[in-house]
Amino acid sequence: MLRAFELRKFAELDLRLRPIAASLLGPPEPGEDDDIVLAESYRALVLRDQSEILHLEFGATDFATIRAADIPRHGRPMTVRVCEWAEVSSVRPSFARLLYRLARHCGPRALELGTCLGVSAAFIAAGLRHVSPAARLVTIDASPLPAAIARQRLEIFAPGIVTVVQGRHEQLIADLTSPKHEPFDLVHIDGDHIEENTLLIHRSLVSGAIRLCTLYYDDIRWSAGMQRFWTEVLRSTRGVLATIDLEWVGLCVVDPTFVGAPLAFAIDPP
Ligand SMILES: C[S@@+](CC[C@H](N)C(=O)[O-])C[C@H]1O[C@@H](n2cnc3c(N)ncnc32)[C@H](O)[C@@H]1O
Repeated sequence: MLRAFELRKFAELDLRLRPIAASLLGPPEPGEDDDIVLAESYRALVLRDQSEILHLEFGATDFATIRAADIPRHGRPMTVRVCEWAEVSSVRPSFARLLYRLARHCGPRALELGTCLGVSAAFIAAGLRHVSPAARLVTIDASPLPAAIARQRLEIFAPGIVTVVQGRHEQLIADLTSPKHEPFDLVHIDGDHIEENTLLIHRSLVSGAIRLCTLYYDDIRWSAGMQRFWTEVLRSTRGVLATIDLEWVGLCVVDPTFVGAPLAFAIDPP
């Protein structure tokens, strides 16, 4: 495995790796700390919300859920307190900052699979604001009520930047990666954590890519299934230029013109 030092070197030689190297290893960007404070205030608001809502879970709720067929058609109904749900489900601060930096370096078009209450979306939107006035994030979640809360709050936090869509990732991915949509530069995948669906999504994103795109996979070591998924990504021979293993998170730089084994980096998590 290649380390941070080699990523720096490769990025000097290869433009395609610069956004990743800058996001992981570069100095803070102007205004970054203020943006992070603001996005953390979004998290703090959600963490103060004591209301109870009905959440429909379409993902793996334990390590043993490995088949998409195990998920009930209409999801598993759960009553959750918003603050507690946000606490257990939302991206932690160090990775939230990484998402912010990736959005800022890779934008302008981002997709997120797994909105939940909108915490990670707030960080991505904060980064995208710096890219261009046309920068946009589409974020998708199957569970109607958390998605509605996120939609309402994100419209106030980042007006005009974020669109929250309700739907199932595995059903929408073929359409999202078809030529009728503008391609994405950054995709945050934090959805059902089921090997079969995550692979389906990965293959659609790689085969549908028509320009450089960075994929960010959460929880690559959460279950045996997610580990097998990540091993499969490391074995890619087409379309994956580089992988960066950050222990819990796996990044994958997709270049549709690339054929060969990806450069495989392992870097300490932020
Ligand atoms: C870990 S949470 C996302 C957390 C969010 N990215 C954050 O850091 O703030 C995963 C979300 O994925 C959604 N989800 C799970 N399986 C899904 C599926 N098959 N299609 C769409 N959404 C799904 C769940 O409803 C849940 O809100």
